[in-house]
Amino acid sequence: MKKYLGWLITHSLFIAMLISILWDPHKLTWQFKYSAYVAVGFLCLILSLNPLKLIFPRWVLIHRLNRYRQEIGVSVFSYALIHVLCVVIGSGSLASWLSLAQYPPFVSVMLVSMPIFFILAVTSTQFSKMKLGFKNWKRLHRLVYVAEAGVIFHLWMVGQSTLVTVLFLPLVVVQLLRWGIHAKSNSAIH
Ligand code: HEM
Repeated sequence: MKKYLGWLITHSLFIAMLISILWDPHKLTWQFKYSAYVAVGFLCLILSLNPLKLIFPRWVLIHRLNRYRQEIGVSVFSYALIHVLCVVIGSGSLASWLSLAQYPPFVSVMLVSMPIFFILAVTSTQFSKMKLGFKNWKRLHRLVYVAEAGVIFHLWMVGQSTLVTVLFLPLVVVQLLRWGIHAKSNSAIH
């Protein structure tokens, strides 16, 4: 049971949202919005874990949350999928949903972020880590930064500039700090 606790906590709202969509596919306002915000929250959480671990090495909560990296990472895809599912249902057909890709606010998430989140979710397992080798796996999972850029662009274009400023600006600052610390320790070694 303990093994599945992380999945239960991160995905119970996902299941509730999915059931409510199947129950009444004509009223999707809250699922559309909240799934998007939860996906953004999990994305910021997963992206902040490594920088915060390095900047505050004694922070126990970060180390505890780090044990649930896979569950948190997959949650980004799961909740984004609910958000996209609502858009597909709202569009009326798959074809009209696909035609959204021609509009700037959606192109980055449809062609870049969602495919990347899918690949990262599918390859998040220990089995994939073993099959790909840790170095290649890590290289592949660095694509998350490309997906992050796609989400930031999407949010900015749909008028969520405050969300970008409040959540992603501090995140980019801690990410740059992390890279700075890494570069400093690498140059000290060589
Ligand atoms: C195939 C990919 C996606 C499509 C087609 C899509 C579509 C949309 C649409 C139509 C809106 C409403 C725009 C408006 O109100 O003018 C929206 C808003 C939003 N999207 Fe996406 N989205 C996608 C992926 C994502 C992803 C991956 C995230 C986050 C990880 C995300 C987060 C949001 C947020 C936070 C909002 C604002 C919600 C609100 O308060 O209205 N979207 N999206």
